[in-house]
Order: sequence, then C-alpha cells, then structure tokens
Amino acid sequence: MSRAKRKMDHIQFALSTGQQADTMFDDIRFVHQALPNTGVQNISLKPETGDLKLKSPVFINAMTGGGGADTEKLNAMLARVAKETGMAMAVGSQMSALKDKSERATYQVVRKENPEGIIMANLGSEASLQQANEAVEMIEANALQIHLNVIQELTMPEGDRDFTGAFERINEIAENVNVPVIVKETGFGISRETAEKLNDTNIAAIDVSGCGGTNFAQVENERRQRKLSFFQDWGIPTPAAIVDVSSVSRKTVLASGGIKHAQDVIKACALGADAAGLAGSFLKTAVKQGEKPLIEEVMALYDDLTMMMTALGAKTLKDLTHCPLIISGDLAHYLTLRGFD
Ligand code: FNR
Repeated sequence: MSRAKRKMDHIQFALSTGQQADTMFDDIRFVHQALPNTGVQNISLKPETGDLKLKSPVFINAMTGGGGADTEKLNAMLARVAKETGMAMAVGSQMSALKDKSERATYQVVRKENPEGIIMANLGSEASLQQANEAVEMIEANALQIHLNVIQELTMPEGDRDFTGAFERINEIAENVNVPVIVKETGFGISRETAEKLNDTNIAAIDVSGCGGTNFAQVENERRQRKLSFFQDWGIPTPAAIVDVSSVSRKTVLASGGIKHAQDVIKACALGADAAGLAGSFLKTAVKQGEKPLIEEVMALYDDLTMMMTALGAKTLKDLTHCPLIISGDLAHYLTLRGFD
C-alpha cells in the first residue's frame, strides 16, 4: 500500500473507529473553592514552555501531510485555524516528503498560511540528523517533534520491526539541530523510566501522548487479517502518564492523547502538564464541520478555561498544580499501584 493511501486511511479510521471513550480524566475532580479571590481579568492562559515559546495552552498535534490534494487542503485549513487562534501546529511525519519532493507542498502550505506562527516539524525516531535538518528547513519550523510509535509499527503489517538506536539518534539530533526538540508518543504514553532516560539528552520537551484517544493499534488492526488485539488495550492512560513523567522530568511536559475539551486541558495542567495537544478531536471538527466551527470551538475552550481557572483562583496554568483535587476510580488505583500516594 502506498504511503499516500495509508495517510488517507489513517484520517478515515481516526474519524470513524480509532477513538476511545475512556481517558480516565473523568476520575479527577477539583475541590471547589468558594473564596477564589480573583476575577477573569487576572487570568493568563499563556503557558510556560521555555524554548518552545508557546502562546496558547493548546496546540494542534501532528496529523497530516503527504498524500496529495486532500491533505494539503486539510493542512491549509488547520494552519489558518492555528493562525486565527494563536495555537502552535505540528505537521504530520515528513519522511515521505524527504523521499519524494512532490509531497513537500502539502507541508509547506502550513508555513505559507501562517508565516509568523509556531510550526513544528515531525519525524520518527528512525530519522538521521541530516533528515531532521531538512525537515525543519522544509517548513521553516520553530521546533521539531520526534515521534515514538513502536506499537503502531508492530501492528502495521509493513511496519518496522527493529527499534535499536532510537535513543542515540534522538540524542544526536537534540545536540545538533538548531530548534528545540520535542519527543512524543503517538497514543501509548511515555513512562517515567523513559522520561528519566530523556533527561540525559538536550531535548526541550516530552509530549506524553497517552492512551485514551486515537488508538493506532485499532487503526492498524483494521488493515490486518490476524489481529494483534492485545495492543488495543496497551499503553499508559494520559493522566497517569502526565503524573509519571512530571514526577521525574526536567523538561517541559506536554499532554496529549484523548484530550477533547477545556476540562481535560485544565486537569492535564493540574497534574503537571505545561500545555496540551489535540489531534483526533480537532480533526473531527475540521473534517465534519469545517474551519469556522473549529475556530469557534478553540475560542470557547479558551473561555471555558478562563471561567474554571477563575473559580479555582488559579491565575496561571502553573497555579493549577496547587489546586486540591480528588482522584478516584481506575486512575486512583493505577497511580497507587505505580507508587504514588
Ligand atoms: C496522528 N498522530 C501522529 N503523530 C506523529 O507524531 N506523526 C504523525 O504523522 C501522526 N499522524 C497522525 C495522523 C492522524 C490521522 C491522527 C489522528 C494522529 C498522532 C497524534 O499526534 C497524537 O499523538 C495521537 O493521535 C493522540 O492524540 P489524540 O488524537 O488522542 O488527540
């Protein structure tokens, strides 16, 4: 199957099947504070993300590129939404465009639509330093995401089977590329053991991208005869991954995986994330409803965040980490077994 066809398949599957209902964010509840001593005028939604310099607490996570006219149109739309709402945007993996120059326009349209915006390049951990530099240059990126997708590759019939040397390649890229590097998962989560290893590199941020949202094992199993169904329940739930990674990481922590609305974003920040990425949920609105409804959705999300932060007396996203909350159900159980009080 061609890469282009596979990318369109991913979008279709992500829209129809590849979303899970339970993210465990519902197991978190803030303790109401009746004397918050602040007002909406005091609330700042600007995250503290160091070298990444994000301006919005949410960003459009890596999805599309390559694949031709349809993905170019989708990327152009997402780029305009990012521009209008001040969000950063990551493009999908650029490996295909490094191999086939005719695909580059589908990524470069993002820079064309948003010349001043924060745009992130994207490659897998199989990439070399030279490929990383080329990907950044291709879209004049402000940052580079390197994705880890072992489960997706193993589930893909034609996927990679050898993952040796990924850490060394990431380390080399982070040392030498001239933009901040983000290491991200693709819906199976980053553990504290992995985050500890990444502390020894020069990367700027970890995007935990846990399970509970787009499920690439489910997506790829749709295309397999003999299903690897055990991978469909694999992975670290996003809120648990945020707690795990924040407990050891010296890097900026980004949250993604199943984040859909302001309640998820505010809970992610309260658990230790500095900002949150949305892929599947933005894709759904973009494809099913279009550009204007997506802009309205993001502006409503900002508004909702402001309202909830006012109620909690949290003037900044960092202040949210001091808000008392109750964790119950499966998430509480998971965190206890993982050694958290
Ligand atoms: C993705 N994702 C992804 N990630 C990445 O690093 N490079 C890529 O090329 C892609 N491609 C891609 C295509 C489609 C259609 C979707 C929905 C997702 C993964 C994405 O960035 C994110 O990590 C996961 O989807 C989890 O977030 P959501 O979708 O649950 O918000």
